[in-house]
Amino acid sequence: TFAVVTARSGRRVDVPPDCSIATALARAGVEVPLSCEQGVCGMCMTRVLDGIPDHRDDVLSAAERASNDLILPCVSRAKSASLTLDL
Ligand code: FES
Repeated sequence: TFAVVTARSGRRVDVPPDCSIATALARAGVEVPLSCEQGVCGMCMTRVLDGIPDHRDDVLSAAERASNDLILPCVSRAKSASLTLDL
């Protein structure tokens, strides 16, 4: 379990192991635009303001992954205890 903080909407949401970031946020009322929900289309791409993503998508380039600036929250998770997203 890790926490996601949404910088613009001011929420803090716990993401359990069996739940995607996007699903946990939707349950808390923060909608992320979704399409494939498999980490391939790029629709859900979100800016990361703080924390280290655990990338599980097939969208980002190696450089984008290394920058820790973007995440695909339909599949990716966190290596840090919390992630702050631009949502
Ligand atoms: Fe397609 Fe996340 S919804 S990559």
